[in-house]
Amino acid sequence: MLIRVIYVSTAVVPQTSTLTDAILRKAQAWNKANDITGVLCQGQGVYLQALEGERGIVTKLYARIYADQRHTNVEIIHCESIAKRRYEKWSMAHVSLSDVDPKTKIEWPEFDPYSVTGLQVMARIDELLESGTVIQNPDS
Ligand SMILES: Cc1cc2nc3c(=O)[nH]c(=O)nc-3n(C[C@H](O)[C@H](O)[C@H](O)COP(=O)(O)O)c2cc1C
Repeated sequence: MLIRVIYVSTAVVPQTSTLTDAILRKAQAWNKANDITGVLCQGQGVYLQALEGERGIVTKLYARIYADQRHTNVEIIHCESIAKRRYEKWSMAHVSLSDVDPKTKIEWPEFDPYSVTGLQVMARIDELLESGTVIQNPDS
């Protein structure tokens, strides 16, 4: 059975490009090998990630991510069984929510991931993906 989980978390160390690259490199390799797809949005001190895959695998991955010391206040904002993947093209796409990126700031001026619903988040992530805000090449 396939599920999709979306969580939000707070970074505890600066979200440098070196750190982001390290997380994405690890995530893309492991996710590809384990048939996980999704999107990692990152910036403004938060992470917002959608994970899709087999229920047991997503559960184990989420537990590992939850325990990761590089972020805290990890909260699930959405979880559902799915018939079809939404992010099937990406082992882990990357969307920047940097507050120094005026484009993103204009597109999502009052971004508060702790107070939005999963459906709002998914709609916004889709817009960001469509508008080409993905800065890590999709793994297709
Ligand atoms: C915000 C964030 C997102 C992450 N996303 C993934 C992911 O999608 N897939 C993955 O394998 N690891 C991901 N990681 C890394 C895991 O938390 C963990 O560090 C990695 O899987 C190595 O685990 P291990 O040291 O227990 O082997 C993420 C880490 C962070 C901080």
